[in-house]
Amino acid sequence: MERKPLAQMGLKEIRELARLRMPPEAWEHFMGAAESRTTLRRNQRALRRILFRQRIFHDVTDPDTSLKLFGRQLPTPALVAPIGSFSLIGERAERQVADGASRAGTMLFVSHAAKSSVREWAEGTSAPLVFMGYLTRGREDVLNCARTAEKLGYAAVGLTMDTVQPVKIGDHVPLSTKDGRPRKGHPASPRDIEWLKREVSLPIVVKGIMSAEDARIAVDAGADLVVVSNHGGRILDFNRAAIEALPEVVREVRGRVPVLLDSGIRSGGDIVKAVALGAKAVLVGRPIGWGVGAAGAEGVERVIAMLTEEMKRVLILTGVRAISEVTDSVLIHEGSQ
Ligand SMILES: Cc1cc2nc3c(=O)[nH]c(=O)nc-3n(C[C@H](O)[C@H](O)[C@H](O)COP(=O)(O)O)c2cc1C
Repeated sequence: MERKPLAQMGLKEIRELARLRMPPEAWEHFMGAAESRTTLRRNQRALRRILFRQRIFHDVTDPDTSLKLFGRQLPTPALVAPIGSFSLIGERAERQVADGASRAGTMLFVSHAAKSSVREWAEGTSAPLVFMGYLTRGREDVLNCARTAEKLGYAAVGLTMDTVQPVKIGDHVPLSTKDGRPRKGHPASPRDIEWLKREVSLPIVVKGIMSAEDARIAVDAGADLVVVSNHGGRILDFNRAAIEALPEVVREVRGRVPVLLDSGIRSGGDIVKAVALGAKAVLVGRPIGWGVGAAGAEGVERVIAMLTEEMKRVLILTGVRAISEVTDSVLIHEGSQ
């Protein structure tokens, strides 16, 4: 059967194509989540319960989706999440993600667990980059990578701090895709944030915040940006959805630093909801894996373009001129009026 052109595919079709094209182990790993998968499902369910207030009498026809982050002008708030295991999809997958992010002009967060080095990512893309370290690999290695990132003109560096216990796929802890060793957890300490802040001059990102208390600790220790995330449901089963934790984090942070959100973003509408609740931008995880699995760099570009087009449609239908002007007034929470 003739395949639809990529530009006409929706995310579900891209996901289906990825399922057919990806090695089965990679598919299982990407779709996997901890234990009963309740957190994974809740991420999307909670987003779906939030509704929009439609507005039609206005002159918004071409809303502006651009924003500035770490001094970089970006065309869209849909950013690429750090994923350590793109290489399971194929030998060229990391290069294709780097290329896809360049084409989309979006920001690419790269994982310490990836096969490509900090330098290889920079050589493969014109996208602004953020390096996300894992302390399980030791402070020395985090620092080497962070210093290289600094030299190579990365926009920021940071720590993924929610792997206090390792990721789980169902009832199993997967092996590291980088070195095949069993994954380990690492305690999270504000001293690690203070340390990295002292050692590098780039802004410091802390990912894995799910409460006001942890947000305060991270910002007091020197975080320049926090990412509200439950790691796409891969760490704590029966966690809240990330979108449910966002309001208390935004209240606590009170504009001291920008807040990003990930976990469950599957449409442009989801992005508008996150921004309306106080996020500056979002990270997109599994859909990027589907994009690269389905169609390489073009697939990644298409996923970002699709999310951005959908976002524009929602902005027009809620009468908002720019993503930077979105407020909670575009939303209705089910159960309220
Ligand atoms: C296969 C896979 C690998 C991941 N690897 C990392 C990683 O190395 N570092 C990290 O900070 N987060 C990692 N994450 C979490 C993502 O950065 C992000 O928080 C999550 O995927 C967002 O949820 P979503 O997939 O529902 O968009 C990984 C997620 C997946 C699905």
